[in-house]
This record gives sequence, structure tokens and C-alpha cells, in this order.
Amino acid sequence: MTQIPRYQQLADMLRQQIDQGILSPGDKLPSVRRFSQTQKVSPGTVLSCYNQLEQLQLIEARPQSGYYVRQPPPTRVKQPDQAVQACDPVEVTMGDLALQVVTATDTATNLPMGPAYPSNEFGLTHQLWRNVARQGRLLAREQAVAPLGYSVPPGEPELIRQLARQYGPLCMAINPEHLLVTNGCQEALSLSLQAVSSSGDIIAVESPVFYGTLQLIESLGLKIVEIPANPDQGISLEALQLALRQWPVKAVLTSANIGNPLGYLMPDEHKQRLLKLLQEYDLPLIEDDVFGDLAYDNTRPLPIKAFDTDDRVLWCSSVSKTVDPGIRIGWLSAGRYHEKVNYLKYVSTMASPAATQQAVAELLTGNSYNRHLRQVRQTYQRRRDQIIAQLQRYLPDECRMTFPKGGFLIWLELPRGIDSLRLHQLALKHQISIAPGILFSATDTYRRCIRLNYACFEEAAFSRGIQQLAELIDQL
Ligand SMILES: Cc1ncc(COP(=O)(O)O)c(C=O)c1O
Repeated sequence: MTQIPRYQQLADMLRQQIDQGILSPGDKLPSVRRFSQTQKVSPGTVLSCYNQLEQLQLIEARPQSGYYVRQPPPTRVKQPDQAVQACDPVEVTMGDLALQVVTATDTATNLPMGPAYPSNEFGLTHQLWRNVARQGRLLAREQAVAPLGYSVPPGEPELIRQLARQYGPLCMAINPEHLLVTNGCQEALSLSLQAVSSSGDIIAVESPVFYGTLQLIESLGLKIVEIPANPDQGISLEALQLALRQWPVKAVLTSANIGNPLGYLMPDEHKQRLLKLLQEYDLPLIEDDVFGDLAYDNTRPLPIKAFDTDDRVLWCSSVSKTVDPGIRIGWLSAGRYHEKVNYLKYVSTMASPAATQQAVAELLTGNSYNRHLRQVRQTYQRRRDQIIAQLQRYLPDECRMTFPKGGFLIWLELPRGIDSLRLHQLALKHQISIAPGILFSATDTYRRCIRLNYACFEEAAFSRGIQQLAELIDQL
């Protein structure tokens, strides 16, 4: 009779413990050394055992941390419209709904699952504000001798140098001569839209889409055509192609790395096909990469800009999701539109403050930003598993949810008939903030969806909040 290898026996034992719930998602497994000592086997046997469980996607290795039980991928969110068809172009008529929702939820007492704010617990955020204070002191001293003035576009040379140092190796197309400092990613998106379109034009966006994009499109008098996106790959290329054939689309605006709200990570091959399609129709692509640094993969995913051989991609990002949205520092690498966005920046807000630019430049010097990113990504990944475990435990079975590949946002589809705006209003009365699905489209497609933020996940508070949410869903 053939003997079952020892590593296999151990793998079977752990697998059984996972199946029986003795080991739960997020639990840490013993280190290789400890497990080999307790089981009296070699470290190599333990590694073979862990390798096998990893291949079965039951556990995962986290860099510099160890092995953890994985969250089984939940049922994915049902596609908004699986047919490869985009909606007809529409005007956006959101008014100040998003502003109302954000203002109403923006209190320190709420359980913060609404707006897409990062956690403030990380050392680098505090370092940033110490840098700002130091820059302020320096300026106070210098201003006694130096004339006052604006930090005119493209912005502070030191910040541009540091941005080129950080992102240049990732993407050759990001060269220092094409970088412009902006007031957050939102201004980068706004300048990009203004550079490539004028009032009445049609812009194609993924759907569901970040509500800030919808608001910009509305305020600039543009129309949108919403292209269904998939929680694994992002914007549907088939639907986009149909839309491009049918409508005089002026530009495409999308994210490739961690879409908000779906949390997808577009495969590189999909990014290249998207770019090829845009080349075919000779259209610009506005890439919102604000969550790109927060992909849970160990290697930073490439932006679409990395494949941009003819300077048609306007790459937009900021430190808002990685460090602090309050600092309002973002940037834009606009390729062939660089002169135009520079000019638009100058005539709209003239400049971004020099002191905050210098403070961010200082933060990017050395390797502390990359170390911070490693820590933040691990924390958010762990929190994703924790919130999914709670959502699956407390919410009704009909709820579907995404399995975010990065960032800190999860998208849920609730049972039929639930009005997420009503749920948002009721939840607020219980000091729980959520983002209702109607914010993420110009049509009424996502009325029964919600987006939750798990950046600040804390076991006890979230458990209470999610149980409360489940009761409210029940009532509705
Ligand atoms: C997808 C996306 N793009 C852009 C922004 C705006 O970023 P910033 O705060 O840097 O202006 C946000 C903010 O929530 C976002 O989620």
C-alpha cells in the first residue's frame, strides 16, 4: 500500500480544519519553523504542505508576515447589464446629491463606510503634516527676503522630480517634462476633460463609475455613455466598441487599476486591447489611477499609460487614497495635451500651494513611501477578508458582493426592492454611513446597490454596524 506523503497528510489536516471553520479566513497559520517543530517534520515538508494549500487557493502568503487562511471568493456582483451594450448617451443630472450625501455622512461619530477616505492610522500621514509644518517655518523665514508669488504650472520642480523618480521606472511614458501638479486627482480629471472635449460632447465611462466623474461631466455640460464594467476586468471592450461605432464619442475615461466602486484589476492584455481600440478611433484616454498604488499584488500594476506609444493617455493620480486627501496634491501626465492642461491649470486655479507640494516631495524622497504602501496594502487586504466574513455572516443570502483586488471599497448588490438611498437615510440615523448605489450612474441602474469603505475596519464596531444594516435591510 502506498504511504501518503507527510506533507499531504498535513495539508489534509489543515484543509479539514478550514472546511470545519476551526481555521477561519484571515487566521494566521504557524510559521514554517514552528509548524515543523510541532509536527516533527522538516521545514521543506511544511513548505510543500503550504504550497499545496496555496495552489488550492485555501491559504495565501503575505510578504514579511506569513501564511493566512484565504477568504473564499464570494459570489460576484451580478453585472449591471451583461448584454454587451452601453446605454444611450445621456446628460448627467445628479445636482448636488453626492455633495449632500458626503456632507451628511462626514461626521466623526459615524461608522465610516460611506465616503472613500483612507485610514488615518499610518505613520506616513503624520509625517506628511510634520513636513507641512517644517515647510511653513522655512517659508516664513525665507519670505523676509524672497518675493511672494505663485508656484506656477507645472508646479514645484522638486515634486515633479520626485514623481518622475517614483513612477518613471514603472512607466517610461511618464517623463518629467509632461508632469503637472494639480489640486488632487479630481482637478487632474477636470483639466483632462476640458482639454479633450467641449460642452455637448460625449464621454464614455465605465459603469458603475465614481460619482466625482459624473459630477465633473455634469458641470462641464458633457454627456456620457455608460459602458458596463466587470468586477474582474473593468470596462467591457465589446460594449465600448459598439458604443464607439454608434456614437461620436470624444474621449474615454476609465480606471484600470482598482476601479471605484468595483475594485477590479484590469489585466495588462485588456489594457493593451483598450488602447488599441482607442488608436483605431484616434481617441484620447483619461486614466484615473488614484487607487493604482493600493493593488494588493506585490508588484505595482502598470497603468495603461505604460503602453501609450503615441501620447494619447492622460494619466491622473494623487496621494489622496494612499496618504491623505486633505493635502490636495495630485498630478497629471497628459502626453500630447500637456501644453493645453498647463494653460488650463493656470487660468483656472493658477497654482497649487508651494508648501504642500514641497511637503509631498519630501515624503517621496527615499523609500519611506514604498514601505508605507506595503504596510497599507497588507492592512487593507486583511480588512477586506474581515469585512467579507462579516457581510457573509450577517447579510441576507441574496446579497452579492465584489472581491476587491486592492483599495478599501466593496460593492454590494442587495435583495430586489431595496432602495439604497432610503437605506442610507435610515442608516445615518444609526450613525452608520454608506454610499448609495444611485450615486454611481447617471441612470437608475444601481438603486439596490451600495458601496462600503473598509479602510478603518475594526472588528467590534463593524460587526455591530453590519448587523444593524442587516436589520434595516430586513425592515425595508
Ligand atoms: C476614483 C476616484 N478618482 C478621483 C478621486 C478624487 O481624488 P482626489 O481626492 O485626489 O481629488 C476619487 C476620490 O474619491 C476617486 O475615488
